[in-house]
Amino acid sequence: MTGGTETTVAGFPVRVFNEGGSSRVVVTKPLPGDRWLDILQHAGCRVEVCESPKTILSVGDIAALIGPQCDGVIGQLTEDWSAPLFGTLKRAGGRAFSTYAVGYNNVKVHDATNLGIPVGNTPGVLTDTTAEIAAALALAAARRVVEADKFMRAGNYEGWLPTLFVGSLLQGKTCGIVGAGRIGFSFAKMLVEGHKMDLVYYDLFPQPKLEQYFSAYGEFLKAQGERPVTVRRLETVEAVLREADLVSLHCALDASTHHLIDAAHLRLMKPDAVLVNAARGEVIDEAALVAHLETHPDFRAGLDVYEHEPRMAAGLAECDNAVVVPHIASASLYTRGGMATLAAANVAAVLRGFPAWRDPSDVAPFLEGDVAAMPPAAPSIVNAADLGLALYAP
Ligand SMILES: NC(=O)c1ccc[n+]([C@@H]2O[C@H](COP(=O)([O-])OP(=O)(O)OC[C@H]3O[C@@H](n4cnc5c(N)ncnc54)[C@H](O)[C@@H]3O)[C@@H](O)[C@H]2O)c1
Repeated sequence: MTGGTETTVAGFPVRVFNEGGSSRVVVTKPLPGDRWLDILQHAGCRVEVCESPKTILSVGDIAALIGPQCDGVIGQLTEDWSAPLFGTLKRAGGRAFSTYAVGYNNVKVHDATNLGIPVGNTPGVLTDTTAEIAAALALAAARRVVEADKFMRAGNYEGWLPTLFVGSLLQGKTCGIVGAGRIGFSFAKMLVEGHKMDLVYYDLFPQPKLEQYFSAYGEFLKAQGERPVTVRRLETVEAVLREADLVSLHCALDASTHHLIDAAHLRLMKPDAVLVNAARGEVIDEAALVAHLETHPDFRAGLDVYEHEPRMAAGLAECDNAVVVPHIASASLYTRGGMATLAAANVAAVLRGFPAWRDPSDVAPFLEGDVAAMPPAAPSIVNAADLGLALYAP
């Protein structure tokens, strides 16, 4: 994000781009790259980016930034987007909103729909980046990488020993996925292809494409004279927890997945299993996880997200059998730039009266090339059907 002029809005430092633009778009945090700004400016928007050092803006802060007149907002996953803020946006003449994330559990879409406001999100560009962090957490936890790193830096290494930081081998074991959508599928490819793990998964819906993919991969391995991997959809999450040596959570957060992994579910898992969460913190009862880690030293967890972010549950920091990172699953330059592009394209397209894109999982046409030649559509509007928005037909 380069250029712009500095000003103050409601006491917050704000950087303004394209001052004379006809639609006012508020962006609650600076975003990486410049393409997203090009898209909004090309759509005739005056863009106001809040540069407050406050990490998380409150509902009151954002309402003050929206002010008496605002056409659209790009918000963050840490913000509470429900009736109060959508009401403020609507009263200010707002017509467009996009969150800068694929998961939108912090957005009460129903409240926006009631006010006729389309809600955009940013699918597709996070898939492999998020799956990579889950894979990194799985390997780091299984092979005790962080514990060993701390030991080394502390000057404790006195020489090779047969018993030093012995962990678990993932190769050839069973990988379990809970929520086998875009990210779950990508994670499964990394572990099944890379580590020849068998795959079991639980999802509300059968995933025929995923099953065909790994069945074909198993046949390929067989033809090479190698052990073929297998793929099975199990009927319950409990069955996955019992069978898998590594379980990775990739479901959306909603009422059906809140505390999906609690004390009773943890007890079903193998004592030396690895549990990874790069979905949302509330999917795990974190206090129960800490108790489980404390009493099962060979059990390991790799966590990107926390039930009460930014805090961790009491005792988690002391668990050497957990690897913890601060919600960085989407933090690759490609992804964060792509998310900005999609969020801006959502807001710009809605303000220009464009229809919704036909396939939010295929957002490639928005990510590169001249912004003037981008498809005249909003890449991903989650309430498009409820609002009766037209679908893009080239
Ligand atoms: N940690 C991060 O920074 C980060 C980054 C990106 C996405 N995410 C999270 O990952 C989630 C998945 O993203 P995606 O792009 O793969 O979404 P997706 O919609 O492609 O996949 C989600 C899958 O979960 C399944 N599911 C829903 N409820 C379920 C339940 N009760 N039990 C089992 N499966 C269930 C759905 O059927 C779907 O197949 C997002 O909702 C988001 O919360 C986190």
